[in-house]
Amino acid sequence: METTQKFTRYQRLIAQLKDLFTATTDPVSRMATATALLYHKMGYFYWVGFYRLVDGDLLVGPYQGTLACQKLKQNTGVCWKAFNQNQTIVVPDVHQFPGHIACDPKSQSEIVVPIHDTKNAIIAVLDADSDKLNTFDAIDAHYLDLVASMIYTG
Ligand code: SME
Repeated sequence: METTQKFTRYQRLIAQLKDLFTATTDPVSRMATATALLYHKMGYFYWVGFYRLVDGDLLVGPYQGTLACQKLKQNTGVCWKAFNQNQTIVVPDVHQFPGHIACDPKSQSEIVVPIHDTKNAIIAVLDADSDKLNTFDAIDAHYLDLVASMIYTG
């Protein structure tokens, strides 16, 4: 997708999410709403969803796309790395990422963004996958960080 188109789509999506999020502060409801919007508006995601920390495991939360792994092997793969380092990770080619967990063999590139609760503790990640290499860039990182920051904001 062209850079300008990407900006425009994300800007519209953020405005729409702000409006939708006035309905409730419930994080799971917001996660479900965000995944539906991202999946349908950003044509280059074949999977987008959340993994939440539950009793020490990263378990799949609301998502859209093909069937996902329910539980991620601890401290392995992109989601755990983003979680443990508490930072956004852009992976241009998943085959070059040691320990990458392929829930779907279609996966070629990926971005994972941390989610913080109201006390700024990391409690989940937002993950988006593409079936093409080099899909995600600084624009995706910026706007997905913004989406992530909206989940637990009043
Ligand atoms: N690829 C991720 C696992 C989740 S799926 O992409 C939906 C990882 O390596 O953590």
